[in-house]
Amino acid sequence: MDIYFAPMEGMTSPLLRRTHAACFGGCEKYYSPFISTNEAISLNGKESEDVDHEQNKGLNLIPQIISNSAYQSALYIKLLSEKYGYDEVNINLGCPSGTVVSKGKGSGMLRDPEAMDAYLGSLGEELEKLSGQGIKIPKVSIKTRIGFYEPGEHIRITRILKAHPAYQVTVHPRTRKQMYCGDVNPDAFAHMYDELRSAGIGVVYNGDIKRPEDFERIAERFPELDAVMIGRGLLADPSLARRIKGGEAATASEYIDYMERILDGYIDKIGVEKFILAKMKDLCNFMKPVFSGNDKGFKDMCKADSVEAFRVCMKQYIRNSKMYEV
Ligand SMILES: Cc1cc2nc3c(=O)[nH]c(=O)nc-3n(C[C@H](O)[C@H](O)[C@H](O)COP(=O)(O)O)c2cc1C
Repeated sequence: MDIYFAPMEGMTSPLLRRTHAACFGGCEKYYSPFISTNEAISLNGKESEDVDHEQNKGLNLIPQIISNSAYQSALYIKLLSEKYGYDEVNINLGCPSGTVVSKGKGSGMLRDPEAMDAYLGSLGEELEKLSGQGIKIPKVSIKTRIGFYEPGEHIRITRILKAHPAYQVTVHPRTRKQMYCGDVNPDAFAHMYDELRSAGIGVVYNGDIKRPEDFERIAERFPELDAVMIGRGLLADPSLARRIKGGEAATASEYIDYMERILDGYIDKIGVEKFILAKMKDLCNFMKPVFSGNDKGFKDMCKADSVEAFRVCMKQYIRNSKMYEV
């Protein structure tokens, strides 16, 4: 079963993805954070860099878009195929952020199943038109949730997904209301897994895989998954995919090497100390679940007010904490 590195806006930059692949590996695909479509049908500097092949050398990167317009979506899919050379594009129907939802995008689509049905129907037509013009259309995959307000909404969502079959659907088994907290709902996921697979649609599980045991549990119950997608678990433990595949857990030295490569990459790229520190401290908040017994070290790292002080505190924190004992 494959392992995909989830898209995480602000966190999974090309630098982090490349460094992860070079230091630990184990992921068959990496996803870019979403690109929001607009009338210009072009990517801004950051988006363009995010999907640029030079920036993602050696990675199997899948770009992701988010939209409420089938017309714009089709043209972005065409752009990502023709100009950037991608043969798969992922559509985000799950982002829970208020600004996204208020525009009827991301999980905003799940609040209005008729709009979701119309969007996917029109997208299919737009893509067919492009294909009729001899344009090569990439595979379309979807990332979604089990509902907006209530888990029971997954029945209707599944019906709509089956009516407009994507090549693969990733399901995060929480509602939008839950954001990224509270219990996942494996039973709602089980229904979607059975129904989507019976329609020939590949299924990917995403949510709360933090240790190899979490993966084992999911793989045992859902053996025909195409893949599992992991986000926070891989930010905390970059060796998680390797461990799942039978490899070793990261040592403290390996972890330090990984963090220093990312730090040095941001020093080169960003240049401004306070922005470099902000990026690194965001990452530190995600790495916390792997380390224990060193609250003071964590506080010192978060208080560091220069890049070099941060480097020293980060190394001390990793060396002087317990790893994998949480
Ligand atoms: C900071 C942050 C940014 C995220 N950005 C995206 C995004 O751009 N596109 C997307 O599909 N999901 C995004 N997600 C959701 C993750 O891809 C993933 O679905 C979620 O973290 C649950 O998986 P996990 O429990 O393995 O972390 C984001 C999540 C977080 C916490």
